[in-house]
Amino acid sequence: MALTRISLSLLLFSVIPTAYSYWVFGGAVPLVTTRLDSIVSPGEVSSHVHTVLGGSRFGANYDFNDLTRSECSTILVQSDKSNYWAPQLYYLDQAAGTYTPIPTFFNIYYLPRPGPKNEQIHAFPNGLRMLAGDVLRRVNNATNYADKAISYYCLDERADFFEHQCPNAMRAQIFFPSCWDGVNLDSPDHKSHMAYPLQDYNTGDCPDTHPVHLISLFYEMIVRVDLFPYVPGSWVYSFGDTTGLGLHADFQDGWEDKSLLQNAIDQCVEVNGDVTGTLAYPSQSNPTLRSQQNNSLKLMIVRHILACAPLNAAINNAAAAACKPEMSIPNENVGFTSALTKLPGCNLLWSGTGPKPVCDPNPPTPSFAPTRSTLPSGWTELGCIVEGTTGRAFTSASTTDPAMTKTLCANYCGNLNFPFAGVEYGDECYCGSEFSNGAVNQTVPWSDCSVTCAGNPNENCGGPNRLSFLYNPTKH
Ligand SMILES: *[C@@H]1O[C@H](CO)[C@@H](O)[C@H](O)[C@H]1NC(C)=O
Ligand SMILES: *[C@@H]1O[C@H](CO)[C@@H](O)[C@H](O)[C@H]1NC(C)=O
Ligand SMILES: *[C@@H]1O[C@H](CO)[C@@H](O)[C@H](O)[C@H]1NC(C)=O
Repeated sequence: MALTRISLSLLLFSVIPTAYSYWVFGGAVPLVTTRLDSIVSPGEVSSHVHTVLGGSRFGANYDFNDLTRSECSTILVQSDKSNYWAPQLYYLDQAAGTYTPIPTFFNIYYLPRPGPKNEQIHAFPNGLRMLAGDVLRRVNNATNYADKAISYYCLDERADFFEHQCPNAMRAQIFFPSCWDGVNLDSPDHKSHMAYPLQDYNTGDCPDTHPVHLISLFYEMIVRVDLFPYVPGSWVYSFGDTTGLGLHADFQDGWEDKSLLQNAIDQCVEVNGDVTGTLAYPSQSNPTLRSQQNNSLKLMIVRHILACAPLNAAINNAAAAACKPEMSIPNENVGFTSALTKLPGCNLLWSGTGPKPVCDPNPPTPSFAPTRSTLPSGWTELGCIVEGTTGRAFTSASTTDPAMTKTLCANYCGNLNFPFAGVEYGDECYCGSEFSNGAVNQTVPWSDCSVTCAGNPNENCGGPNRLSFLYNPTKH
C-alpha cells in the first residue's frame, strides 16, 4: 500500500507553498509519446521523443482553432484542449544495452501567483505557445530564474540528476514564465514573449516589458524510476542527456472556453486538498512494462479541482481516460512496443559538459502514419453499443487476437460475409447479421468504449461489456 501514498507524500514536500491557492490536473496520462514538437519543429519529425498530454488533435502542425476542435483531451476538464509536453525519460539497461521508457504521470498545476503589487491574473490569450528549459543546457546557474525553474525531487531537491535511489519515484519539475508581453503569442526562440517575474521564477510582479500577468503553469512529472534497479547513468532523456540539465517543456494553449479558465482563476481560492482514486498507466506491449502493469503502475491521483466549482462541473473522467490521438505521427517504435537498442533520432549518450555527440551517418527519418487503423472499404463505425443482456450481441463468429484492431475485426467478419462486427475489451471480435440476446442498435457515450486495442496503442477497441460497432451495409 505504500505506493498509493506516493503522490500525496511527494506533494507535501512540494515546492508549492500551501499559503497559495492553486489547482492541479493530477495523475494525467499521456495522449501519445512520439517524435513531434509542433512548436520547435512544426511540420517535421522532431529531433527527440516527447510525451504529450491534452487535446487529441496534437500533431506535427496545427493552430489554436484546429486544436480546439479536438474530439477529447486527456485532461479531466474537457474544454482544456491545450497540449502539454516534455521529453520522455528512458531507463538504460547498461548490461543489455536497451532503453525502456520510464512510465511517467503528469500533475499539471495552475497557480495564481500575484506578487506584492497584487496584479490581476489573466487566462492565457488564445493560442499562446511557450517553451521553458533548454535542451542544450549543460551547467546550472543557481541564480538564474530560467535555470531555477527546472528541478528534480527525490530524497531532496536538485537541479540535475543525482546519484540517488528514489524509492518513491522521482519528480521532474518545470515552472513556466508567467509574464506575457501582451502582444506576441510566440517568438522565434519561443521564450522572449514571456518572462519570469521580478522577485523569483515562481512568484512576483511582472516587469514593464512583459506586463500581463498570466496564470502560472507548473509541470510535475512523476517519473517511475523506482520500478527499475538503480544504477548510476541509467536515466537518459530522449535526447541522450544523462545529466538532467537539458529538461525542457512546451505548452500550446487550447482552452476553448476562456471564461471557464478565467472563472476558475477568479473564484477558486483555497482549492487545496482533494485526493481521489487511483489510476493505472496505459497497458503496453513492451514485456518489461507489461510485467509492471498490474500493481506497481497504480498511483494515487492528486487532483485538487473538486472544490473548484467551475472546473468540477466540467470534469469528464471517462472521456479523459478514453482519449486517443487523432493525427498522424512518425511511424516508429519509441520503446512501448519493445525495448530499443538506440534512442529514436540522432541521440547518442550525452554526459558531462561537452557538446552533443553527432551521428555519422544520420539515421533515416521515419514517414508519418495515421494513429488509427483505416477500416476496409464498405465499413463504417457507428459508435459504442452495449453487449447483449443474456448473451453476446453478435453470435455468428468470433475470434480474439493479440494484434486486434477495428480493421482486423472488420476484415475477419467481412471475409465471412457478415455485415456486423463488434470489437470488445481490446482483443475480442464478434460477427453477426442481427442483434441477439437483448442487444440493440443504440449507441452509448463514445467514452464507454475506452479499452485500448491490443494491436494499436492509439485506438480504442470496445470496453468491458461494450462493443465498438462496425457495419458494412453491402454485406446485408
Ligand atoms: C547567472 O545568472 C545571473 C542571473 O541571470 C546572471 O546575472 C549571471 O551572469 C549568470 N552567471 C553566469 C556564470 O552565467
Ligand atoms: C493482471 O491481472 C489480471 C487479473 O488479475 C490477470 O489476468 C493478468 O494475467 C495479470 N497480468 C500480468 C501481466 O500479470
Ligand atoms: C443503426 O442505427 C443508426 C441510427 O439510428 C442507423 O443509421 C443505422 O443504419 C442502424 N444500423 C443498423 C445496422 O441497423
